[in-house]
Amino acid sequence: MIITYDQIDSTNRVAKELAAEGRPAGTVVHAVSQSAGKGQYGRCFNSPAGGLYFSLLLEPDLPLEILPLTTLAAGLACRNVLHQAFNLVPFIKWPNDLYLGGKKVAGILCEHICTPHPSDTAAKVIIGVGLNANNRIGDFDGDIQPLVTTLFEHMRKTVDLDALLGHLTQAISGQVMRLRQDRESVLAEWQQYDFLLHRRVVHVCEERVLHGVGQGITSQGLYRLRDDHGAEHELIGGQLRPQPGGA
Ligand code: BTN
Repeated sequence: MIITYDQIDSTNRVAKELAAEGRPAGTVVHAVSQSAGKGQYGRCFNSPAGGLYFSLLLEPDLPLEILPLTTLAAGLACRNVLHQAFNLVPFIKWPNDLYLGGKKVAGILCEHICTPHPSDTAAKVIIGVGLNANNRIGDFDGDIQPLVTTLFEHMRKTVDLDALLGHLTQAISGQVMRLRQDRESVLAEWQQYDFLLHRRVVHVCEERVLHGVGQGITSQGLYRLRDDHGAEHELIGGQLRPQPGGA
């Protein structure tokens, strides 16, 4: 079932409420625009009309240690849909952004609702996707305009958002289910589109700032960084981004 709002603060927030009310897996909350879209690290996700903003509720029955991989699976699904539908070649910036032509075209925010459960699996996952689709660069806040792109800016044509929503939700469900039997192949496929691989990167986590080069993901979905002193780090959280001007 798809529930569409003209405008809402955050589809993730609404989806979480619906999950708590017991709505079934497969429920989708979609908004034409969001007034307080949620991004990673508590940031706001700029969500002007023309983009595609939705949250998909799933109950994938995955062991807790596999749960962080849902973000990677969702990113891979979105990349594949954009490639299949429009012949685009997006890359995935760990853990949750899609990049097109070196600029951000989509962000993903997965939120897990862990309830006490006999089999130690998380009951529900909300997968929120914000895709810059038919919007123009001028629709975004001035400070992020240099950093983002949209499908329209890339292809010079508008796309059918309803059809895209159907393809994306189906592909995300499929990749998340694939994690159950075939986690290694999901991660192997993800690695082919790693935007940060062999690039100069900066990682910021609380007070610590690391400069180094991206080395790809581990079998647990952590990101490996070799710092400028040659030490290897496995990153769990924090903010990882390409170093401006870095190769
Ligand atoms: C990020 O880039 O930091 C993640 C952005 C995720 C944004 C999407 S838009 C639909 C869903 N609802 C939200 O409030 N956030 C996600």
